Amino acid sequence: MCGIVGILGNIEVAPRLTDALKRLEYRGYDSAGIATLENGKLARSRAEGKLRNLEARIASHPVGGAAGIGHTRWATHGGPSVINAHPHMAGRVAVVHNGIIENYLELRAEVTANGAVITSETDTEVVAHLVNALLDKGLSPVDAVEVVLPRLHGAFALAFLFEGEEDLLIGARKGSPLAVGHGEGEMFLGSDAIALSPFTDRVTYLDEGDWAVLTRSGVTIRDSNNAVVSRPEAKSSVTAALMDKGNYRHFMAKEIHEQPEVLGHTLSRYIDLGNSRVKVPGAEAVDFSKLNRIIISACGTAYLAGLVAKYWFEKYARLPVEIDIASEFRYRETPVANGEFALFISQSGETADTLASLRYCKENGATIGAVVNVPESTIARESDVVFQTIAGPEIGVASTKAFTCQLAVLASLALHAGRQRGVLSEAQEKDLVAALGSIPGLAVQALKCETSIEALALPLSRVSDALYLGRGTNFPLALEGALKLKELSYIHAEGYAAGELKHGPIALIDENMPVFVIAPHDSIYEKTVSNMQEVAARGGRIVLITDQKGADASGNAAQNTVILPNVPEIAAPIIYALPIQMIAYHTAVFMGTDVDQPRNLAKSVTVE
Ligand code: G6P
Repeated sequence: MCGIVGILGNIEVAPRLTDALKRLEYRGYDSAGIATLENGKLARSRAEGKLRNLEARIASHPVGGAAGIGHTRWATHGGPSVINAHPHMAGRVAVVHNGIIENYLELRAEVTANGAVITSETDTEVVAHLVNALLDKGLSPVDAVEVVLPRLHGAFALAFLFEGEEDLLIGARKGSPLAVGHGEGEMFLGSDAIALSPFTDRVTYLDEGDWAVLTRSGVTIRDSNNAVVSRPEAKSSVTAALMDKGNYRHFMAKEIHEQPEVLGHTLSRYIDLGNSRVKVPGAEAVDFSKLNRIIISACGTAYLAGLVAKYWFEKYARLPVEIDIASEFRYRETPVANGEFALFISQSGETADTLASLRYCKENGATIGAVVNVPESTIARESDVVFQTIAGPEIGVASTKAFTCQLAVLASLALHAGRQRGVLSEAQEKDLVAALGSIPGLAVQALKCETSIEALALPLSRVSDALYLGRGTNFPLALEGALKLKELSYIHAEGYAAGELKHGPIALIDENMPVFVIAPHDSIYEKTVSNMQEVAARGGRIVLITDQKGADASGNAAQNTVILPNVPEIAAPIIYALPIQMIAYHTAVFMGTDVDQPRNLAKSVTVE
């Protein structure tokens, strides 16, 4: 989604703005632009497509100055084009914006009636016109922004730059994140600490409704009532080095291979291998023994982690789970009672629908838990208890290491709930903790099947459809496999519960249809293999993902078999996620798609 950066510096700002925008590329965008103050006058450069287009434009038409704002735009109102790219300008104001201004049509009618000429199709430009009209009436920039902000409905973050104001930047946050960076005689604005990482690790996160007036000597923050407030300064752990691809061709490849390490970091926070116990910091906020159910909601891959967790909570804690995708949950008006426990899963911690679902549950009196990767995120800050994944920054748009770390946290939490509810004995907990403890090592072994997976990519790159099948916790993995293939390679793929095959998707099967069957040799292996035989009988091209025992017991139905190490049942969804990710990755590489930033997708979806 859109990324914002603002700099009040002392050296040439254009290269610094594009450098910061590169750090925001991962969020997904389709055009970009900057505005600077060149000798006190607003100068602007914008380009459709990748940042290299913007850099080329700046190289041929330089924009000077030491203060400026920059933006990566993910189109919502108006297609990706130069005229719709931010910054938008009117008279003495330039503005960049993340989010949606819901009442922009009404505001646009107002400003055009007053003579403004709108040049773009965006909801953003109207903000510049509103502010500029007030400047024309003699208001100061700060006063003008103060008047305009309450008039804007929706969820957004904004940054303003003003002609003739060399020492002023204004940022506002209502629904979309915005952070202030503190430098030495310089100040910054950014959508997240990642954008600010080249400049400073001293960061202040604006609270909901805050707006900030920056000068080179500091910042004044006001809340939505315009009262001056103090917000803490934090030290960001995001360093520029963490944002490097290292020796990998793509961030996604790096992130896939980081999984043994980050799973180790995450598990070490949630299990005590020495004592064979789960230890979930913060879990004391919830008495699982008193709950009748858990509510889980999330989007995308994080939702699929929740779907795996449903199996775990129900099996290991005998605790029913009500789970839904957040964009549905938020409007369903589902009854939520005081004292219930609702759990939200999000890598970014900023996904608009997940946040709205969280707020719905909070308003209804639920205790809110969050499994998030970004501890400073809005979802983390609005939750009663945060179960952090220690995956480190995830840059590839398609979630990989965050997903498996979410699973590691959720498995630990399910076992904790099982113990607290008296479902699991100490001996069972010991075995299950040992199983979780074996995950980093098993992940190392699982990554070794990469060569056999690479060999599958060429034939796969020539198909137009694919099917993924699984049962039990392998069913959400089948959904995840299909999602990954779709988003990275643009091949149409569907995930199905293996037993549901005969109720529809079997009609699709012919000799051109690759069918990935995810089937570790577990308690339901036989059932899945029966479904696999149904595919084989209709000529489908089966790729079986299993272990040695599963391969031996599978007969000759599969054309290809990916063999993983033997894994304990609770570890399987985490370990089997790795080949699923690698299949999508290598197919996409083969097809030459943009692996880290697939078309139309955004990493952090801050609009609904
Ligand atoms: C986007 C990303 C997905 C992610 C989903 C939820 O669609 O492309 O990879 O799973 O958002 O994001 P979250 O940050 O809430 O986990």
